[in-house]
Order: sequence, then structure tokens, then C-alpha cells
Amino acid sequence: MKPTLRFIVFLLTLLLVLRFNVATEVKDELEELLAVDEEVEREAEKGGEKLSEAEVLSKAQRIVIELKNENTERVVNGNEFVLVLGYAPWCPRSAELMPHFAEAATSLKELGNPLIMAKLDADRYPKPASFLGVKGFPTLLLFVNGTSQPYSGGFTADDIVIWAQKKTSTPVIRISSVAEAEKFLTKYQTFLIGRFENFEGPDYEEFVSAAKSDNEIQFVETSQVELAQVLYPDIKPTDRFLGIVKSEPERYSAYDGAFILNKILEFVDYNKFPLVTKLTEMNSVRVYSSPIKLQVLVFANIDDFKNLLDTLQDVAKTFKSKIMFIYVDINDENLAKPFLTLFGLEESKNTVVGAFDNSMSSKYLLESKPTQINIEEFCNNLMQGSLSPYFKSQPIPDNTEASVRAIVGKTFDDEILSSKKDVLLEVFTPWCMNCEATSKQVEKLAKHYKGSSNLIFARTDASANEHPKLQVNDYPTLLFYRADDKANPIKLSTKSSLKELAASINKYLKVKNQVLKDEL
Ligand SMILES: *[C@@H]1O[C@H](CO)[C@@H](O)[C@H](O)[C@H]1NC(C)=O
Repeated sequence: MKPTLRFIVFLLTLLLVLRFNVATEVKDELEELLAVDEEVEREAEKGGEKLSEAEVLSKAQRIVIELKNENTERVVNGNEFVLVLGYAPWCPRSAELMPHFAEAATSLKELGNPLIMAKLDADRYPKPASFLGVKGFPTLLLFVNGTSQPYSGGFTADDIVIWAQKKTSTPVIRISSVAEAEKFLTKYQTFLIGRFENFEGPDYEEFVSAAKSDNEIQFVETSQVELAQVLYPDIKPTDRFLGIVKSEPERYSAYDGAFILNKILEFVDYNKFPLVTKLTEMNSVRVYSSPIKLQVLVFANIDDFKNLLDTLQDVAKTFKSKIMFIYVDINDENLAKPFLTLFGLEESKNTVVGAFDNSMSSKYLLESKPTQINIEEFCNNLMQGSLSPYFKSQPIPDNTEASVRAIVGKTFDDEILSSKKDVLLEVFTPWCMNCEATSKQVEKLAKHYKGSSNLIFARTDASANEHPKLQVNDYPTLLFYRADDKANPIKLSTKSSLKELAASINKYLKVKNQVLKDEL
């Protein structure tokens, strides 16, 4: 063979090998998937024989494709719908989500959903991670023909299935027999039902658009009144009907608005939560993003909550879609403590009822016993805006012997703002790094000015005391309140030496004395 010919043959062979390699790789992956499918089917056919939870899980996890350097682009760009979970092996929230994700993958396969579910160890494969846009952990992204959109559903397996069905396949489940309706009821506790004479026309289209846009509630439809009645017993035989169903005393809410996408979504947003929602790590984002800005939070242990539930549900019914009622397990450090700290009640073992107006970021505390009457009155006042916002305060201290007076939330008005004297206030927190040094300086200054009866030294622990007029974010902070201008305290540098601080104080006192002299 001539050298050029040999080279061409070599090139052709190389090309063939390369193509073959790529092809087998794809084929391997597909076969792997199909094998898992068959296995799932075989196991499903076995019926009676129950798989252990671990077996189900490990099988489900294999339905999820593992993305790596070499297959990521191909999988994401070569399929219409791919849901990617970007995770890191050391991240506990990833670990928590993984089994739910795998379980959802199994359910979606069974439903015949075309979605490919894939996971990427973003720690191990940084290149594909940056290609996909995985930044935090865990990250869920839906790729539609290679273009990504953020995941916006809930985080249980059922939540993922509902969301995926909405965005990729069948946003509404259609019921055509009593058996189907009954089966549906065993699976879904919360859903939006639509009855339409025909599944067409502008009203129906808005309903389907709402089903697609909503991120978490299963929509169901039927054309027959008898079937609709299985799901929503006192359905009105109008030509079209919408209602939400939940599993609790306030079980049915009928929609009476116009069949317009945004109105339907608003109805869902205001009605989807139960009368009392239990806050969990999984639903916290949903709860915080509710359009209902007035929220009453009940912190209690499980037994106290059980005793209080009927009462709370009764009250919640009165304030439906105006106030959201949330239960937080008082023993759950992660969920309860950040809230209780806002009330200075982090050590409380007894039931605490607090409220937030998220549109004004104010907080309120029920300071009487959590009885039905008291909670109702609290809610009424919250609605009318007549509750006084709550400010933390330690008990009023005894300052008779103190050279630096301890100020608490309750004494801030009297001792600082209404006092006729100049006040140097040190604002500290127990955990701040440089607070102790500043405290020592203030002690020394207090000694130095002991004789001057018109100058007071004070300090307040900002972690346990609040006042609407005290807005400090850095600790320590030194504020000099001049007797004649309490509304505008002067901030002194905490980096100043003792001498410099004394000089500043003298300057203000001197100006004041000068003014006094001039006035005389
Ligand atoms: C994805 O691309 C295919 C082929 O171009 C197209 O038929 C399909 O409608 C696209 N899917 C979506 C959801 O846009």
C-alpha cells in the first residue's frame, strides 16, 4: 500500500473505533437502565414478596443515572427532560434528599414519565458541575432540551413526582371511574379538583395552565358529577367547579372566583396549607414564602400541642387565609431556637405563642395563657394592627451600687431617653470579641467622671434587650446621648484610647457648658 493510502485506512479505522466506542458507551448505559427497568418490573410482578426498604432504595438509586466527566453533556443535551441533582458526598442535606430523589425516580418510571433523573457528585466532577451550573448543595435543576430551569417543588418523593409530572408530562390526573377516584383518594390527601362538562374551552385551559404553573398541589379533573362527588361530596352541579381538598377539619374549600390563571393560583396559595401547619426542614421555605404575611407560631412539645390542636384549629378557621398558624416542636433546636431567641425565650419549656407580621418584620408575643379566648383576642388584635410589637428585655436590675448602670429593654426609655442627664451607653453582646476591652475602658471612664452628677455611664446587653430606638448592628458600640438631644446619639469610636474618649466627652460637655453660659 502507498503511504497515503495506508494513512487513510488508518484514519478510517480510527474513526470507526472511536464511533464504536461512543456507541457502546451509550448502549451500555441504556442497557444498564433497561436492565434495571426489567428488574423493577420482575420485582413488581413478584407481588406478595416484599422487598426490604434497603433493597427498594438501592434499586431505585440505580434508576438514577450517574453523571461524570464524559457523559454529562450528552445526557443533558440529548434528552428532552433531565432532572439533575447536584450533590456533595459530605453534605448532610444532600444525603437526606438522595433517597427521596431515587424514590421519585422509581415512581415516575412507573407512571411512564419521560423524565431522565440524574445525579452528579459535584465535588468529584467540578467541570460538569460548572457546565450544568451547580453551585450549592444540593441543587436540583430541570433541563428542557439542554436549557436549565431551577427546581421549585417540595422535597419529599411525592412532592418531586407531582412537580415533575406538572412540568414534563401530565399536569392533571383525569378520573373516569369510581375505582379510579377511590384509588386517587388513598394516594392524595391534598388536591385541587376541577369538574368540567368538557375538557375544552378557555376556562378549562386556564385550569390546566394553573396546574402547570403551581409547584406542589396535585390537580385532578373529571367530567361526571357522580365521580366528582367521590372526591368532593357536596360539589355543586354547576357546569364547572373548582375546589381544594385537605385532610383535616377544614376539609373542603370551594372556589368562587373567575377562571383566570392568576386567580386560581392565588386561591391555591391561600388555601393549600392546613389550618395548622407543622414546620419541618422540608417545608420551611414554602411556609416562609406564603403570601399570608401574618403568622402565628405555636412552640410546644408534642403532648401540649396535641392538647391544643382542637383549639388552634377552631381559631384558625375564623382567620382562614388571613393568618397562617404554624406549629414548631419546641424541642427541635434547629427550627425552634432561632425564633425563640427573638423573644429571649430560648430556654422555655412551656408553650410559647408568638406572631410575626412579615410585611413589617415586627414580632408579637402572647403574654397571657394560651387559652382559646386569649389566642383569639391576640389574633384579632394582630389583624387590626393593635398589638404592641414585642421587644426583648431582661428583668429590671438593681443599679444602686453600680458605677456603670445596666440598662434593659424595659428601662431604656426612663434611664436613657427621658433622663435629663448626658449618658454614655455601651452596647455589647456576650459573644462579641472586643466587647470586654471596651467594657474595661467604660469602667475606667466611669471612675474618672465619678464626681460629675450630670453624666451617667451605662451599658446594655443587646442580645437580651431591644428597644425600637436602639438600632445597633456592630458590637461593641459606644453612644453618647447628650441631654439636650436624645434623639441623635453620637457614635464614639471604640478603637479610641481612654484619653481620646475622655477628650471627646469633654468636648461635648464643654460645648454644652458654653451654650449654657451663653444662655445665662
Ligand atoms: C424539545 O425539542 C424537540 C425537538 O426539537 C421538540 O419537538 C420539543 O417540543 C422540545 N420540547 C420542549 C418542551 O420544548
